[in-house]
Amino acid sequence: MIRSVVRGFGAALPKRVVTNQELEKTVDTTDAWIVQRTGIRQRYIAGDGETTASLGEAAAREALSRAGIEPQAIDLIIVATASPDNTFPATSVDIQARLGITGGAAFDMQAVCSGFVFAMATADAYLRTGMARRALVIGAETFSRLLDWTDRTTCVLFGDGAGAVVLEAVESAGTGDDRGILTAQLRSDGSHKQKLYVDGGVSTTGTIGHLRMEGREVFKHAVGMITDVIEAAFAATGTTAEDLDWLVPHQANRRIIDGSAKKLGIPLEKVVVTVDQHGNTSAASIPLALHAAASDGRIKQGDLVLLEAMGGGFTWGSVLLRW
Ligand code: ACO
Repeated sequence: MIRSVVRGFGAALPKRVVTNQELEKTVDTTDAWIVQRTGIRQRYIAGDGETTASLGEAAAREALSRAGIEPQAIDLIIVATASPDNTFPATSVDIQARLGITGGAAFDMQAVCSGFVFAMATADAYLRTGMARRALVIGAETFSRLLDWTDRTTCVLFGDGAGAVVLEAVESAGTGDDRGILTAQLRSDGSHKQKLYVDGGVSTTGTIGHLRMEGREVFKHAVGMITDVIEAAFAATGTTAEDLDWLVPHQANRRIIDGSAKKLGIPLEKVVVTVDQHGNTSAASIPLALHAAASDGRIKQGDLVLLEAMGGGFTWGSVLLRW
């Protein structure tokens, strides 16, 4: 059987760091409020010339270089984003061109904060069925350009950035010890649309719009939805929380991360947390966190790693893989 194995990983952040103290000067908030409710201390905000495609390109270049794979060997690019450079064409084809790739397929995937998990699951399906051999999976966002910077209930929460992995189809005996993606669990429920959405769009207002969120409602559903897809991943693979080496959650809020880990009996020492440094970067948060923990040597080859996310839609999902 074929497994999708991570060959390389990369990340890119904008140059400008914006601390909570800086936000105190522009909206009615405090560092103490933000840290206590979310765990966020700073975020990176894109400046002139920095876009979803440019950040995604930089993350992809690092992932390709770590993988030792030439760009032209990539035959699938999936970019998870809810903040594309243009309405069309897809940001993925822009990145494809920037990398000088002329073959294969490239498309975007929109599942907001769960986008990277949805993109990994999709790439895995393409590789396992032989539709592609080497995939670039990128999560890239510039949410700063969707925010209402006068709304303190949302503007303090988000940041910009990108992360990427290279996946390669590898023949495998199919045991739990073999490297690669073991299972992916995806869910959506559009009845929650109004709890987290952007109040603009091409076919409604003709504007880009701003992010709107009922924070408490999102919070109320998050832990239950996350534990649902994690338990489904354990059930599908016959694994338990004790088998995990690392949980790499979507980085929305420290309280959601801690609450989910506690409910599942996963010790906090096994949880990768970057929300304090990056804020919520939507589809970029998981590959940014993977990059942080793999580049400093915490995540090692052969480790059992669980990715999970929940976001607008609602959408939610998990991917269990052996690194
Ligand atoms: N600074 C100071 N005060 C604030 C701020 C702020 N930035 N934002 C809101 N407040 C005030 C509110 O106005 C309210 O004041 P009031 O009591 O006078 O009306 C008070 O703080 C409490 O507001 P709540 O919204 O009830 O605060 P809560 O404890 O729920 O925390 C938060 C808000 C952090 C948004 C929380 O609900 C949350 O984390 N929700 C999850 C949302 C999330 O993570 N979304 C990310 C996208 S989805 C995803 O990625 C999973």
